[in-house]
Amino acid sequence: MSDRRHSPIGSSVTIEELSANPHPLLARLREHEPVSWIPAFDGWMVTRRDLCIRVMGDAETFTVDDPRFSTAQVIGPSMLSLDGIAHQRHRQPFVDPFRSAEVRVRFSDWTRDRAGELVREIAPLGSGDLRAGIAAPLSVVVMARVLDLEGVGVAELLGWYEAIVASVHDVTAGGDVPEAGRAAFRSLNTAVTANMVDSALLASVQTGRTLSIDEIVSNVAVLLFGGIVTSESNTATVLQHLLRYPEALREVRADRSLVASAVEEAMRLEPAAAVVDRYATRPVELSGASIGRGDLVRVSLAAANRDPALFVDPNRFDVHRDNAQQHLAFARGPHACLGIHLARVEARAAVDAVLDQLHDLQPDPFPVQETDGLIFRAPPTVHVRWAVR
Ligand code: HEM
Repeated sequence: MSDRRHSPIGSSVTIEELSANPHPLLARLREHEPVSWIPAFDGWMVTRRDLCIRVMGDAETFTVDDPRFSTAQVIGPSMLSLDGIAHQRHRQPFVDPFRSAEVRVRFSDWTRDRAGELVREIAPLGSGDLRAGIAAPLSVVVMARVLDLEGVGVAELLGWYEAIVASVHDVTAGGDVPEAGRAAFRSLNTAVTANMVDSALLASVQTGRTLSIDEIVSNVAVLLFGGIVTSESNTATVLQHLLRYPEALREVRADRSLVASAVEEAMRLEPAAAVVDRYATRPVELSGASIGRGDLVRVSLAAANRDPALFVDPNRFDVHRDNAQQHLAFARGPHACLGIHLARVEARAAVDAVLDQLHDLQPDPFPVQETDGLIFRAPPTVHVRWAVR
């Protein structure tokens, strides 16, 4: 039995509080009980940045490899659900294709062109939702391109993705994997297997022949699962922040070298994945809390990213902040995001395309819609008006 005595604040936390605007609560937790027992989700929440880094860096004590991890039940074991040597075996073949230089060569211009086309389509309308009109379709076409699945068609790929995501939700809620989820995964398996020879990504992954075809498909599903909603949310969040802070928007418009800083700063304030989950493999003391073997340990990236120990005036959106890149939006340790460079390319391309083509941007309706969500967070919409010239 774990020692839960240290959590007077955590004991009254509700899921609603964590989903709507959790930041005042996260600040109190970080200051007074940085490892807090939260009965609302039956687990610990870690909110101090240094402790978050420690948990994510120690996979022997805090593992992802647990039967409660629902993604693995839907798509099979993958880099996301394994630790230690097995994790390295699954992850290593995918590392090279996602390195910064490789991503720049293969995706920078292509992604800029796609973002430009998407904005051009909506530009004559004078108003629209930038999440549905730009962030969402851009995230899907980019992943179709990354996985060399453009032949499948964006609508079908999105259908598989949505069925897999829905299955993960069902399994998380205690249900079985629904037939729609199994069918989507089978279809993805067939498409990926048929593409093994022609795809540059899959050819590179197969070089060392360390993974079976089924294992490759499971990891491709992780890329799909990990690369769509996060990038869509992230792009929407950056645009939302620029709309909320007109002075920053003016500055970024005047000096495009600030686009990259705006992207980092928005990721810091509202990371698309607000938490990552681990399970304790043994009893362990962490900042005064006695964590029991098997306990869920939820790492709050959202809280770590506003830790005043590193970030001065942490709630402020500051496009001149010189250490914003030290946010933990992409996690740390062995499971650090594989798509870091791609996600940055995508968000920057979207912002540049919007600034290039949409002028006199105003939230529509005023005020800007709030961010929402417990695990994945994003503004549900980013409605704007602009001048049609
Ligand atoms: C802004 C967009 C993104 C954010 C905020 C994000 C965030 C994250 C986070 C927090 C993790 C760690 C999960 C954990 O520790 O349990 C992760 C892992 C991962 N991400 Fe991303 N991600 C983004 C975009 C992408 C993209 C575009 C791809 C596809 C290329 C991708 C592929 C992955 C993969 C494969 C992993 C698992 C790595 C492993 O377990 O070894 N992500 N991501």
